[in-house]
Amino acid sequence: MKVLVLGSGAREHAICWSLVNSPLITKLICAPGNPGIKEEAECKDLNINNNEDIISLALKEEIDLVIPGPEVPLVNGIIDELHKVNIKAFGPSKEASQLEGSKKFTKEICKIANIPTAKYGFFTNKEEAINYIQNNDIPIVIKADGLAAGKGVVIAESKEEAILAIENSFEGAFGAAGKTIIIEEYLEGIEASYFALCDGKTAIPLTNAQDHKRVGDGDTGPNTGGMGAFSPTPNLSDDDNEYILNNIIKPTLLTMHEKGTPFQGILYAGLMLTSKGPKLIEYNVRFGDPECQVILARMKSNLFEAILAAVDHTLDNFHVRFYDEVSLTVVMASKGYPGKYNNGSIIDGVAETNNIENIKVFHAGTKIGPDQKLVSNGGRVLSVTANAKSMEEARKIAYNAIENIKWPEGFYRKDIGQK
Ligand code: AMP
Ligand code: GLY
Repeated sequence: MKVLVLGSGAREHAICWSLVNSPLITKLICAPGNPGIKEEAECKDLNINNNEDIISLALKEEIDLVIPGPEVPLVNGIIDELHKVNIKAFGPSKEASQLEGSKKFTKEICKIANIPTAKYGFFTNKEEAINYIQNNDIPIVIKADGLAAGKGVVIAESKEEAILAIENSFEGAFGAAGKTIIIEEYLEGIEASYFALCDGKTAIPLTNAQDHKRVGDGDTGPNTGGMGAFSPTPNLSDDDNEYILNNIIKPTLLTMHEKGTPFQGILYAGLMLTSKGPKLIEYNVRFGDPECQVILARMKSNLFEAILAAVDHTLDNFHVRFYDEVSLTVVMASKGYPGKYNNGSIIDGVAETNNIENIKVFHAGTKIGPDQKLVSNGGRVLSVTANAKSMEEARKIAYNAIENIKWPEGFYRKDIGQK
């Protein structure tokens, strides 16, 4: 089969790295890809936010199956468009992608399916939103409905701060996404991510992970896409995993099916482990980045066979196995990220680091510079991933390996896996 992966991050690098040796794949293309992905797949230039461009590449290359990495093509309805031209696709339809694209949609599913989540209210009117703040406790959480690239969330410690966030949102601080807001009860606890592979009717566990969202050591500074992750997380017991599968994932899948919007693809639950048990914070409809790197680094089963079983609705007979190991990844980012940063600084030592046992360096924002050297080309640049028998050992291997990467304009957190 000819397979097209969409994206250019370390997540898509990990996906291509996992697919490349599948006997069923005759050709693997990644668009647009990056210099790391080029070692596993053929890379083609493409604007993945434009459905017509994706369809025309897929037809030209006679692609049999498309695997989108990020959420934007999914929310744009690329799966529906691919089906119209008889190309198989891994991921949810436009309607089912609302589980990530619309917090309102997700909260309605939670209500129907009785899924544990924070208490909330929805507002399109500023005065009503402010009134709700006056009648509820702080801290309180204000979110833009819709995709705001992780930036549309304010945890207000005072009523004044909450009112300011509401005013900013209605004045356009989060763009169009901020015209509808959700105000939510603050959940206290530890965060964890749980992943399931879904074929519309059946969900099977794809293990769990924990990421580090803040930019600085000790969880300080602004939120990022994720500065590191590990899998599995010691914070979820076997009972917790069972509970999440049976009380959050399966009821969601059933409700989506009953509504006529069945969910096929990766269902990624962002959870808060509260004193009253795990509660759903949000859904994503794809692999997390950097969580994908640590999940796939532990995966024993063939990823492509698992994806095909989801696409062909045969997951009821399928099991995904994982190595009994810990995988941990440390993200190297450009100094200044998640704010302003410069592109084009030279990165040395990646090939040597990749040769270290139990290490894989996944590329994100990299490119080949004018003199054929690897240079930075984005905020998150590399994802240095280690596997070991224990978290402590995986940390040691990852941080020893990262010393070999010579990139003065980059930085990384020193405390991944220490929480
Ligand atoms: P979201 O975009 O919904 O994933 O929110 C981004 C981050 O904000 C989450 O990963 C949490 O750290 C935090 N957050 C969101 N909702 C809540 C909540 N109800 N209580 C506490 N923290 C939250
Ligand atoms: N690491 C968080 C995300 O992929 O959304």
